[in-house]
Amino acid sequence: MPTIIDGKVVSQKIKEQIKIDTQKLFNEKGIKPGLALLLVGNNSASEIYVKMKDKTCNELGFHSIIERMDEDSSEEAVINMINKWNEDPQIHGILVQLPLPKQINEFRVLNTISPNKDVDAFHPANVGKIMIGLPGFVPCTPAGIMELFEHYNIDLIGKHAVVIGRSNIVGKPIANLMLQKNKNANATVTICHSATKDISKYTKKADIIIAAIGVPNFVNGNMVKDGVVVIDVGINRIDDPTSTKGYKIVGDVEYDSVAPKASAITPVPGGVGPMTIAVLMKNTYNSAIKKYEI
Ligand code: GUN
Repeated sequence: MPTIIDGKVVSQKIKEQIKIDTQKLFNEKGIKPGLALLLVGNNSASEIYVKMKDKTCNELGFHSIIERMDEDSSEEAVINMINKWNEDPQIHGILVQLPLPKQINEFRVLNTISPNKDVDAFHPANVGKIMIGLPGFVPCTPAGIMELFEHYNIDLIGKHAVVIGRSNIVGKPIANLMLQKNKNANATVTICHSATKDISKYTKKADIIIAAIGVPNFVNGNMVKDGVVVIDVGINRIDDPTSTKGYKIVGDVEYDSVAPKASAITPVPGGVGPMTIAVLMKNTYNSAIKKYEI
């Protein structure tokens, strides 16, 4: 049976350390890391994620605020809110939950966030730093995956890693991090996407698969080789009449057919998901102590 990569346990360890550091920071300097969360519109999944982020802030002793704006809010109103936080010394991290409603230009909004408070690492200045391997804010989900590799001693050097999905939030940055020339990375990376012909041709050769395509159960046992390490980033809701909620959460990987062939695999839920929030907290703490000031 494969090693089950338990993101709950690893994220808990990270959060416990941040809680200790936060208490110390407050005792010594009177500073509380502060995170501002902006939720625009009525996306029910975004509502859950933002609440979880806020709850974690409270658990760790951070200052946090959630600002909710209507679905039909203007881009200008969103930008004004961000500019207010850019100037607020109690706010060290600004997070605009994506996706945004259609009338709002995502790039302009993310570009407004001060790069020094960009705890998601979505600002072009931070994306550029990641690209060339400079220290700075790291995107939460990809950095969470790298922490899992480190914790479970999964060596990437010279391995063939196949990323499925090319989003700016996961696919592109995780490919970049695995590619860096350092002892925790140094993989050979292939990125597959919606226009890739015969994805299984690539996944069958992969030592490591990062599934971040947003399609339930996309990767199945016939698409992978024995001993593969599988990281499932998918969080998909599918109908389930046997559940009281009427749905269940599944990943992008068909766990039951892939797990018997894998050497290590993340479950969904409880794999990558909790790591995203742990890294967000780490980034916010690091911003409060100005570790990543540009
Ligand atoms: N939507 C989906 N994932 C994320 C994330 O990591 N950060 C933000 N801001 N929005 C998201």
